[in-house]
Amino acid sequence: MPAGEAMTEFDPNPTVPEPEALMPVQAEPRPAQTMAPRPGGIPLTDATVLTAPPLIGIQDLNLFYGEKQALHGINLEVREHSVMSLIGPSGCGKSTLLRCLNRMNDLIGNVRVEGRVTIGEDDLYAPGVDVITLRKRMGMVFQKSNPFPKSIYENVAYGLRIQGVKDKNILDEAVERSLISSGLWDEVKDRLKDSGLGLSGGQQQRLCIARALAVRPEVLLMDEPCSALDPLATSRIEELIFELKRDFTIVIVTHNMQQAARVSDFTAFFWMGKLIETGLTEMLFTNPRVRMTEDYISGRFG
Ligand SMILES: Nc1ncnc2c1ncn2[C@@H]1O[C@H](COP(=O)(O)OP(=O)(O)OP(=O)(O)O)[C@@H](O)[C@H]1O
Ligand SMILES: [Mg+2]
Repeated sequence: MPAGEAMTEFDPNPTVPEPEALMPVQAEPRPAQTMAPRPGGIPLTDATVLTAPPLIGIQDLNLFYGEKQALHGINLEVREHSVMSLIGPSGCGKSTLLRCLNRMNDLIGNVRVEGRVTIGEDDLYAPGVDVITLRKRMGMVFQKSNPFPKSIYENVAYGLRIQGVKDKNILDEAVERSLISSGLWDEVKDRLKDSGLGLSGGQQQRLCIARALAVRPEVLLMDEPCSALDPLATSRIEELIFELKRDFTIVIVTHNMQQAARVSDFTAFFWMGKLIETGLTEMLFTNPRVRMTEDYISGRFG
């Protein structure tokens, strides 16, 4: 039998690809991303945001999980009726910082917070602060929509019910107002009694936004609100964020650079628990001051 034929049946020395061939293709470094157009062609950050007073103030904030320090000396301000994006690689402390803003870290054992966080005139960590009242001022929306196994109506009315509101007219008005604000009213107004769990993923996320809005918070905290959604549902939420900032101040965590560029007035870039750079989104994305910011937004790490 010719040697070549034997080789096709059993090759004792098969060609093993070189290790480099198994490595992912190295992408060419991309230039820093330019600003994407805003929904509806609305101009970039308008001047009112630049002159608006800060609503949230964070001063010298350190946070420890047990011995491990997760936030290091954070100083940051969020202006009224603005959208602030928090960006940075996984584990850099974005969710931790967001949770500091409504004291949700209190629910995790062994957390120690140093420094000052204020909303308006009020110090969130002052002794004797009423945490329940505070949380009403800070609505929260999570990565994974989490409607309760209740009707659409009851999902939205939930916060008011636990505040003791029983008046049907007040509840009806709040449910309608909140569903209109979250862009869901037209899709659900004829089936308010149906389960919230029967909605699509994008609708469920807007239901959760409506639930957060029903108690009239001042601030909306959003932790990767679109990461489980398809592009269409994502763009609905992005448009919504744009509208909601007329009435609310928004802090959003996102891994999507284009989303940060599209929806936020200001961006803060974090790395290993430190605030590396913050500023107007259009400046940070087109002309960052720090090399590390440039490397991150152009996809060289993270
Ligand atoms: N409950 C916890 N107990 C102990 N350590 C925690 C806890 N939550 C977060 N950490 C740690 O704190 C650091 C910051 O975590 P955090 O979840 O805030 O990061 P992140 O920027 O939101 O990351 P991702 O983009 O993956 O959501 C990480 O090192 C994480 O392991
Ligand atoms: Mg997170």
